[in-house]
Amino acid sequence: AKLSVRDALGAQNASGERVKVQGWIRSVRSQKEVLFLHVNDGSSLESLQVVADSSFDSRELAFGSSVEVQGQLVKSLSKRQNVELKAEKIEVVGNCDAKDSGFVHIHTPVITSNDCEGAGELFQVKPSSKIKVPEENFFNVPVFLTVSGQLHLEVMSGAFTQVFTFGPTFRAENSQSRRHLAEFYMVEAEISFLESLQDLMQVMEGLFKTTTMTVLSNCPEDVELCHKFIAPGQKDRLEHMLKNNFLIISYTEAMEILKQASQNFTFTPEWGADLHTEHEKYLVKHCGDIPVFVINYPLALKPFYMRDNEDSPQHTVAAVDLLVPGVGELFGGSLREERYHFLEQRLARSGLTEAYQWYLDLRRFGSVPHGGFGMGFERYLQCILGIDNIKDVIPFPRFTHSCLL
Ligand code: 4AD
Ligand code: MG
Repeated sequence: AKLSVRDALGAQNASGERVKVQGWIRSVRSQKEVLFLHVNDGSSLESLQVVADSSFDSRELAFGSSVEVQGQLVKSLSKRQNVELKAEKIEVVGNCDAKDSGFVHIHTPVITSNDCEGAGELFQVKPSSKIKVPEENFFNVPVFLTVSGQLHLEVMSGAFTQVFTFGPTFRAENSQSRRHLAEFYMVEAEISFLESLQDLMQVMEGLFKTTTMTVLSNCPEDVELCHKFIAPGQKDRLEHMLKNNFLIISYTEAMEILKQASQNFTFTPEWGADLHTEHEKYLVKHCGDIPVFVINYPLALKPFYMRDNEDSPQHTVAAVDLLVPGVGELFGGSLREERYHFLEQRLARSGLTEAYQWYLDLRRFGSVPHGGFGMGFERYLQCILGIDNIKDVIPFPRFTHSCLL
C-alpha cells in the first residue's frame, strides 16, 4: 500500500506490512552497517525514519532529494519514534546536489580599504617603520585586515551569479566572550537574481544541513569522540536540528517573545535594540531547540548595504540572522540594496559616498537583485561539536590581550 508519512507514523501495530512512501530526504546519516534517512512529504511535522543496510548507495541520497521507498513498516527500537521503515528498495526520483550548484570559489583579499560592516572594528595595517615608504603612502589610503569579503563577492557575483569565499576575517571587538575571536574564519556566499529572503534562507538551511550530514557521515569517529567526552546528548540534539524545518520569526515578533520574559535578562529587550546573546539563546529555547531565522531588523541597527523594506512605522531592512542552539547567531545575511537611489541616500547619510563610488557603480551598470550571507566557521564547529567556548575549537585563538605566539 502507498502511505503518506503521517499515516506511516500513525500505524498502530507495525509488524512488517509492505508499504511504499514518497517524499523528500530531510537528513541522511550513514554508519558502518546501516544508513538512516528521514523522509517527509509535508503531511506531518515529524519525518519518517527509514533504515537501510549498507548495500544501498548513499551518494545520491542527499538532503533535498525526492525518493520513493518500499519496505516493511516495523516497530522502532529507538524511543524517539514508534515505527520506522525498513527499506527494501530506494528509488531516487529527483536528485538534489545543491552544494554543487555552480558556486564559484573566489579568493577575496585579506587587506582592504573598506569597512564592510561599518562598525569601525578594524585592525589597521601599516608597513613597519624599517620600510622606507612613508606609512600612509604605501597604498595611498588607510588599509585594514578584512572584516568580511562580502563587498568583493558582490563585485564577482555580477559576473558569475553564484560565488563563495572561505577565509580568515578580523574584528577588533573588545570582548572576551565565549563566541568572539579577533581572528576567525568565515564562509560567505553571494547570489545574483535572488529576490526574496525565503530563497536566501533555503540556501542557508541547505548549507547547514548538507555540511553537517557530510561531517557526520565522513568523520563519525571524531565527532563521536567530542560528543562522548564533552557534550553527551549532542548527537540527539543535532539530529533534532537536521530533522526539523528551521523556524522563521521577524525581529518584531522576537521582541514580543522576549518582552514576555524580560525578568530573565540582564539587558531589557526593547524594539530598536540589538539582540544580546542571552536573548538569542532564549529565543532558540523558546523555539524548541530548533535553529531559528530572525528576519527584518530595524534599519538603524544594520549596515548601509542592506535592502530597505520600505515599511512603516517600523522601518526595517531585509536582514536575516540564523540563531542556533548553544551558540546564538551563526549566520548573518541580507538582501542587498540594489536600487541606485536608495543606496546613494544610505551612503550619503553614513558619510560614505566618496569612499563607495565603485560600489554605487555596481548599481549603475547592470544591477540585479541579490543577496548573501556569512557563516562563522568556529561557531559552526561549536554548534555541531557542542563546545561551549569558541577558544576551544581553534588551536591558536586570538582575542583581547592574547596573541602569544
Ligand atoms: O553578521 P556578520 O558580521 O556578517 C557579515 O560580516 C556579513 N558581511 C556577511 C555576509 O553577508 N557576507 O558576521 C557573519 C558571521 C556571524 O554570524 C558569526 O557567526 C561570525 O560571522 N562572527 C564571528 N565569529 C567569531 N568571532 C567574531 N568576533 C565574529 N563576528 C562575527
Ligand atoms: Mg551579525
